[in-house]
Amino acid sequence: MLVPTIATALILQAVSAASAQTVIGSEPPVAVHTTRHCKYIPGDVGWPQPQLWSQLNQTVEGRLIATVPVGSVCHDPTYDEAKCLAVTANWAQPQLSLPLPAEFMLPYFLNDDCTPFTPRATRCELGNYAAYSIEVRSIDDVRAGIRFARTHNIRLVINNSGHDFYGQSTGKGALSLWMHHYNETTFIRHYSSAYYSGPALRVQTGAEGGAAGAHASGEGYTVVAGACPTVKMAGGYLGGGGHGYLAGRYGFAADQVLEWELVTADGAHVVATPTQKPDLYWALSGGSPGSFGVVLSATVRAFPNEITANAAFSFGVREAGGVESYWKAVHTFHHQLKPLLDQGIVAEYVLANETLAVTGVLAPGHTRASLLLSLQPLMAALAESSGGRLTARSLRMRVTQAQSYHDLFAAEIAPLLAELALPPAVAGRFVPRQLMDGDTTALDSTLRAIADRGYSYTVIALNVINAMRNDTAPPIAPNAVQPTFHAAYSSLMINAGESGGLDVQQELVEEILPLYDAVAPEAGSYKNEGHWAERDVKTTFYGGMYERLEAIKNVVDPNGVFYGVTSVGFDRFEWDERGRLCRVI
Ligand SMILES: Cc1cc2nc3c(=O)[nH]c(=O)nc-3n(C[C@H](O)[C@H](O)[C@H](O)COP(=O)(O)OP(=O)(O)OC[C@H]3O[C@@H](n4cnc5c(N)ncnc54)[C@H](O)[C@@H]3O)c2cc1C
Ligand SMILES: *[C@@H]1O[C@H](CO)[C@@H](O)[C@H](O)[C@H]1NC(C)=O
Ligand SMILES: *[C@@H]1O[C@H](CO)[C@@H](O)[C@H](O)[C@H]1NC(C)=O
Ligand SMILES: *[C@@H]1O[C@H](CO)[C@@H](O)[C@H](O)[C@H]1NC(C)=O
Ligand SMILES: *[C@@H]1O[C@H](CO)[C@@H](O)[C@H](O)[C@H]1NC(C)=O
Ligand SMILES: *[C@@H]1O[C@H](CO)[C@@H](O)[C@H](O)[C@H]1NC(C)=O
Repeated sequence: MLVPTIATALILQAVSAASAQTVIGSEPPVAVHTTRHCKYIPGDVGWPQPQLWSQLNQTVEGRLIATVPVGSVCHDPTYDEAKCLAVTANWAQPQLSLPLPAEFMLPYFLNDDCTPFTPRATRCELGNYAAYSIEVRSIDDVRAGIRFARTHNIRLVINNSGHDFYGQSTGKGALSLWMHHYNETTFIRHYSSAYYSGPALRVQTGAEGGAAGAHASGEGYTVVAGACPTVKMAGGYLGGGGHGYLAGRYGFAADQVLEWELVTADGAHVVATPTQKPDLYWALSGGSPGSFGVVLSATVRAFPNEITANAAFSFGVREAGGVESYWKAVHTFHHQLKPLLDQGIVAEYVLANETLAVTGVLAPGHTRASLLLSLQPLMAALAESSGGRLTARSLRMRVTQAQSYHDLFAAEIAPLLAELALPPAVAGRFVPRQLMDGDTTALDSTLRAIADRGYSYTVIALNVINAMRNDTAPPIAPNAVQPTFHAAYSSLMINAGESGGLDVQQELVEEILPLYDAVAPEAGSYKNEGHWAERDVKTTFYGGMYERLEAIKNVVDPNGVFYGVTSVGFDRFEWDERGRLCRVI
């Protein structure tokens, strides 16, 4: 088995529950012998002795942190009733873990090792947590971490925001580079290169998209960032491609990158641009997060702030006048959205069994009045498809404008997003534009059948083609963003409805995705918003780019210092029965 499938996860869960080698506070070395192809985990004889960790701690000026899982306050001997209640109440909320170096955004990857939901007497084990984190403040910290992991044959992971959907920002027994505090942003009024001359923003990897946007906006400029303000800009987001409300106008976030600054597996400090180390530039820009080195910063294009308008609305079965009418209106909405997307407008919405909630139809360069005008055909068609029921009033249509994207986002969209919670399981699929241009009867009924089983879709609908082709805008350098994303009408996150353990993961991969794939074979999935046990990672997430990416990986990281379960080079490793990462090719 080359990728950790659901079956492997079950084994890992059983094994980690049975073993006591990684109890916090005490780590007696046990004579477990591994083959030399596996990276060591705590308890192995090869695991670095305490004095080596102390030396590392000195090298990084005391910023080495031993992991204490947040759930440990719910277990003896560290049980604390009040703290445990607080942890329980906030479980699975993104805010829960922000100040801690090794917590999980998606508790699924905890495999129940140290949650508030296991008995107090159960010992809290590290499980899939990283063993130690370096709080990175300088390039020397990054180098020290890479060197330590290489020399002592242990796993290295990079944790920036921890938003990764595949648990890639953690790893059993790993040393983690915690990038959160390496977060400066610098506005550059006159960036100049063969590819681009103009304003730019240099963003260190730990800076959040929201903070980067705020800084640029303060200077009178806008940058392409994700809708979620706590996603870091220059980490997994740019590394995976990066979508956002402004992608329809300017291209994907990775398209904006002018230069990358990183440390490679050999410890070298490297700058990659479209003309300097162009292969590495190409691969880093949307090719795969966490595969090619540790990114220190990225410099991205900035655009003058411009007036921007947004429409938010929602309707459900009741407003539409019945279930059939609701799904007919959903169909109408999808088709009427197309011409808007073609103008560079981007829509984000949540489609569920009985409601469609649009957080944004975001129109850069539009005033409130001009967006209302552009929305007229959509409104007329919705009214017609529902026998007059769906009107601006029943949709609770709210159309607003502001002098910049940043202002509009802060006022209108951020409050809506704050209400969203993370689902227990997520997979991804594109809706190809070609499919939307034809007869969508089969697609419509499949989306409906999946929703009827309690799933919902978080959708971004966009068309980046005009941004790519705009002759008057600065050119976008070639990069590894998935071609299937360029050809997509939208990207769906397919969200499981009920909370639960492994069953919902299994149902999603084994039943739900095949339903979708039957009507849209080879549509692909956005590589940052898919499922970790996707059957065909190379095709689904990379759409024709994998081979070239792998060749570049083989040059910059021949020994596999960097690993992620869906990242380029993933199939060189598999997990053994104790959860060690072992080299297979
Ligand atoms: C609530 C939420 C909202 C989201 N909204 C959006 C959105 O609007 N648009 C969008 O495109 N995506 C969105 N995503 C997906 C997001 O882009 C990915 O989860 C992304 O990988 C996060 O990157 P990060 O660096 O913040 O997170 P992390 O989890 O810390 O890192 C993710 C991956 O990137 C690698 N990585 C991180 N930092 C570095 C570095 N310095 N050098 C090398 N590799 C690094 C890690 O190894 C890991 O594999 C969202 C995710 C969540 C959970
Ligand atoms: C590293 O050193 C600092 C400062 O002396 C200390 O507070 C911290 O606990 C040490 N970390 C580890 C893992 O021992
Ligand atoms: C990663 O970093 C974020 C941001 O500081 C933090 O909240 C989280 O606990 C860290 N750990 C993991 C495994 O994601
Ligand atoms: C950057 O990190 C510093 C130090 O940890 C913190 O005080 C500051 O709030 C962070 N800034 C942003 C924009 O995240
Ligand atoms: C979906 O909606 C239909 C029609 O309202 C309803 O019969 C069905 O039970 C719903 N499914 C779920 C999982 O809520
Ligand atoms: C093309 O780019 C220019 C400059 O960035 C901009 O003014 C113009 O509106 C863009 N055209 C389209 C169709 O997006």
